[in-house]
Amino acid sequence: MHHYSFPTNIRFGAGVITELPSYLKTQQLHKPLIVTDPVINDLPFFQKIIADLKRAGLAPVIFSEIHKNPIKSDVLAGKMAYGQNADCVVGIGGGAAMDVARAITLSIHHDRDLFDYDDLDGGSVLITEPVPAFITVPTTSGTGSEVGRAAIISEDDTKRKRILFHPKLLARQVFADPELTYDLPQAVTAATGMDALTHHMEAYIAKGFHPMCEGIALEGIRLIIKALPLAVGAPDTQSRSDMMIASLMGAVAFQKGLGIVHAISHPLSTLLDMHHGLANAVNLPYGMDFNYPVCRSHFQRMSEVMGLKKGIDIKNFLLDFNTSLGLPLKLKDCGVTQDNVDDLTSLATGDFCLPANPRDASPAEIKDLYLQAIG
Ligand SMILES: [Fe+2]
Repeated sequence: MHHYSFPTNIRFGAGVITELPSYLKTQQLHKPLIVTDPVINDLPFFQKIIADLKRAGLAPVIFSEIHKNPIKSDVLAGKMAYGQNADCVVGIGGGAAMDVARAITLSIHHDRDLFDYDDLDGGSVLITEPVPAFITVPTTSGTGSEVGRAAIISEDDTKRKRILFHPKLLARQVFADPELTYDLPQAVTAATGMDALTHHMEAYIAKGFHPMCEGIALEGIRLIIKALPLAVGAPDTQSRSDMMIASLMGAVAFQKGLGIVHAISHPLSTLLDMHHGLANAVNLPYGMDFNYPVCRSHFQRMSEVMGLKKGIDIKNFLLDFNTSLGLPLKLKDCGVTQDNVDDLTSLATGDFCLPANPRDASPAEIKDLYLQAIG
């Protein structure tokens, strides 16, 4: 077991989830709103968490009716579930559950329209009231959202992604227990793990000066290259632990910024409901190849921690890595066609991750990246 703070309090290690009931009681919290997704709600480990909370004399309320790509009405329904009596929010799940849990936490004492608080419209200055205690429990090793301070929620009708962001939305406590990922299907482990790798690689080369995040990103890349094939093909405690800490580190690293891979992946989820990690996995080799000419020294450092000789080798390495994980190499194998490219390009051009990319990208260059990735 370990105790970290950068800047969130993190309990990390196999079995730490058993500490959740006593932690809540120590904090004088008795009626947690547990936010999760419908799949996790039915899993034995989740039912055990709830049973342990009840056995400790707590009164958990479960809210699990959320979409895979969460929308505003999910958050409003969660606020209703919180009601007058809940006293904290516990997010248990992957990125979607965590986004909804964080947005509910914001909404409890902030009564304007949810999207009035959109950070990209300057709405963060309106986040002035206290927020309830917020606790996070990741069940995948990918988004790292458990240590984040942002929630991405889409508009119900247009599916446009909005961003709620504020330091108040950091978890008060994280319980990162790799045992909760032991039953994940191989495909989910692979796709979420590639999301984490994308966070580190994009953060490492993102614009800006942030040696702390860059150091974390390099170590995250090293851990994932070693652990992800094992976590997918022959999972053991070490590989699952390495992936969970590397995933968490990814979200710390991308405080520095993300880039074009996330910018072209977001519209694939928005328009075509594609899994976020899968979209990043397929797009990563092409996006990295696009950036190589403007940051060769960074690519050299990344290639060293990946066990390669030269930065130019990274694209082919990533293609082989995807193949070894059983992931597709082309978007056409995920149902994306050339007919989708114009709509995808116009969304990606305005994506919030694009400005931090080390190489400026014109709409024509973004379109070309989609065409390369479709194949
Ligand atoms: Fe991501």
